[in-house]
This record gives sequence, structure tokens and C-alpha cells, in this order.
Amino acid sequence: MPLVTVVGLGWGDEGKGKVVDLLAGGASAVARFSGGANAGHTVRFQGRPVVLHQVPTGLLHDGVKGLVGPGCVADPAAMLDEIDALSRMGVPLEGRLSVSPGVHLVHPAYRLLEAAEERARGAAAIGTTGRGIGPAYTRKFARTGMRLADTFDPGRLEALSEAVIREVPGLDGDAAADLESQSGRFLEASMRLSGLCGDVPGIIRDVLGRDGTVIAEGAQGTLLDPDHGTYPFVTSGSCTASAAFTGLGIAPRATEVVGIMKAYSTRVGSGPFPSELADATGEHLRTRGNEYGATTGRPRRCGWLDLVLMRYSVLLNGVSWIALTLLDVLGGLPVIRVATSWEGAGGTDPLSCVIGLDRVRPVYETLPGWSGDIRGERAWESLPAEARRFVEFVETACGAPVRLISTGPSREDVIWRTA
Ligand code: IMP
Repeated sequence: MPLVTVVGLGWGDEGKGKVVDLLAGGASAVARFSGGANAGHTVRFQGRPVVLHQVPTGLLHDGVKGLVGPGCVADPAAMLDEIDALSRMGVPLEGRLSVSPGVHLVHPAYRLLEAAEERARGAAAIGTTGRGIGPAYTRKFARTGMRLADTFDPGRLEALSEAVIREVPGLDGDAAADLESQSGRFLEASMRLSGLCGDVPGIIRDVLGRDGTVIAEGAQGTLLDPDHGTYPFVTSGSCTASAAFTGLGIAPRATEVVGIMKAYSTRVGSGPFPSELADATGEHLRTRGNEYGATTGRPRRCGWLDLVLMRYSVLLNGVSWIALTLLDVLGGLPVIRVATSWEGAGGTDPLSCVIGLDRVRPVYETLPGWSGDIRGERAWESLPAEARRFVEFVETACGAPVRLISTGPSREDVIWRTA
């Protein structure tokens, strides 16, 4: 199927970058449809980990086009830094990267406004990445935002920039001067970025019309989606597969949906997390899985896999198949637990995911662990029987096949299972 949509099934950080990178090898284009510099997609390139925040992951493959759809928001200076860093690594982007004029620009004042909002929330702070994402989407829907299209009327962009600077509360001399200089850089970077302006929907229609493959690259995860996630502890861009259509400007059509699921759960920032582990097992997962934010470096909260939530995400996204990541991290645990139902208000009713996740208690099934290290394992048959049983348990509970298993950070550390 020429359109493949890749989404995270949890609270982000499931390892979408690696899977998109693997799939991109056979694609003509990879297109980001949501989010901005809050995302951090880690891939290995020339033997080193590379974290991409705003540019599509597929650009690391020769000849693959990278597209940024109007559902995204862009921090122009940070995006240009990323583009420059890629060219220094020998990845030229000329003629390969197109950004929709409908993309909203993240002004440096947004980060200050966001910090003030988070302070005002006190104990109820969301724990955002601080990248100005919330204010950018807020202004988009309030119809007061700045788009890449505004670079074609520089006077208007400057006026919008000055207006937003005036909104920042309590700016003293130094902070005001600093924001002025960052705003200057923002305006310059926006003008440079306008050189990459392109007709993203048209390019996608062209590729699909020639039977080429387009990968729609989701950001964050289903449980952080503002409509379907753990509101208000969510991000501001849409994270589910349906958002790929509007976020890229393509008409609804058949798509293969690849759901990325980690073998355990993690979450950064605040919000309910029923299967969270605040003990040595949680620490084991954090250390072995290197669970520190790719964008902020914050330690991630860790816990058991919650199959009630995963089934909810699989159904919401219409997942065709699951890519199960970080399976190797579970190695060495005597037992592995998975939440299979919930007790408490609302119980396992899917609406509990939206209404009362903070009031449910997970009920666990205990599966045997395995002692050997499976990192880098590449064949299903060579996995310990307990690891295979875990994978089969996951697919039965979720009602979707696990077709890809990731057992380590490099491109080669994967097991493909045939249907
Ligand atoms: P924002 O997207 O920066 O507004 O943050 C809102 C919530 O989404 C916070 O809990 C963040 O930690 C979380 N979040 C945003 N982007 C990511 C991501 O790429 N991975 C994991 N969590 C994220």
C-alpha cells in the first residue's frame, strides 16, 4: 500500500524514528504531519545516534524526499540548525526538503509565554518540553498565528512579531534585549526557511499517483493526542493516524497503519500513568532502556506495559501491524507484568482512557521473564521461549500482529516476522 502511516501507541518515545528510518529505505518521501521541535526522533547514522526534531527522518536515505505538512509547527532557527548539521554530516537537502506555507512558526516569545503559563499552573503544570508548542497551536486556532506563508509579506510578519513580544509579561531590560535579538534571528531564519516552501499535498499526490510510497511520520503518541489522550496532560498537535490526512492535505484514502509500541510504558511530564513503577524495576527499565528525553534530557517515568491502553490505541488508529520496540530492555527481569484490565471508577471501559485514568488500578497478568541478553538478536527462532510468549501475548491482547521487533539501537537489530 503506497501510503504508510506510522504512529506511536503510548505517550511518545516508542522508537518511531528507528522504524520510520527502516521503512524509508523503500519509500519516495517521508512526511511529518504534526508537532514540531518537541519531538525527538533518534536514529543511528554512520554508526552514531542522531536526534532529529523537526526534519523528517527519511532524509537520511539518499533520494528520499522530506516533507513538512501544514499540521506541523516550525521553529525556524532550530530547523535551520538541524538542516545545517545534516549538511555537515554529508546529507545534502537541496531539492529534497519541502515545508508547507501553512506551517505555523514558533516565535521565541512563545517559549516565554509557555513558561509563564506553566508557572501559573503550579502543581498542575503539564511538564511541557518548553519548545513553545502550546502557544503556537493556540494562536493557530485563535487565528492570530504566524505562518511560513507570512514571509511573503515581511512587513506583516514583523508586525506580528512585535505584537507577540508585547504580550510577554514582566520583561525587564536584559530579558527584553535578549528577546529582541532572538526575534531578529527568528525573522531572518523565517525568511531563509521560506526558500524551502513547497506544495506538500501536490508532491504527495504526485508520488502516490506514480505508485511510490509515502510514509506519514507521526510525532509524540496517541495518549498525548489532544482529542483522544489524557487531556489536559497532552500535547497540542494531533497524534493519531487520522491526523495524517488533514496534517498533510491529502484526501482520505487507504493507508497501512504501523503502530509503534514499546515493550513497557514510559511517560515524560505530568499526568496519570496507572502502571507506573516507582521502584527498582522502574529504575531497571530507565537504566537499561536509557529512558531520558531525547529533546529535554528529562528522566522518563517508567512502568509495565498497559495492554488496556494499547488496545485502545490500536483501535483508535486502525493499526494494521505493530512494531514492538525495546524488547531487549525486559531481559534479566525474573517476571514481566502486563496490565490486562483495570479496577476502579469506570474500570476497563475505553472511556476511562479519556475520563478517569487517574482513578483506575491496573490488574496484572504475570509472565515469566528470561535471563539471557537478546540485544541485537535478529531471528525469531533464537529468542528465548519466554520472549516469544510475551510477543504473542501482546498481539492476542491487542488484536493486531507484531510484525517487527526491535532488539537494539542499530538499523540491523530487528526481527521481521512474516504474517
Ligand atoms: P508539549 O508538546 O511541549 O506542549 O508538551 C506536552 C506534553 O507532551 C508533555 O507531557 C511533554 O513531555 C509531552 N511530549 C511532547 N513531545 C513529546 C515527545 O516527543 N515525546 C514524549 N513526550 C512528549
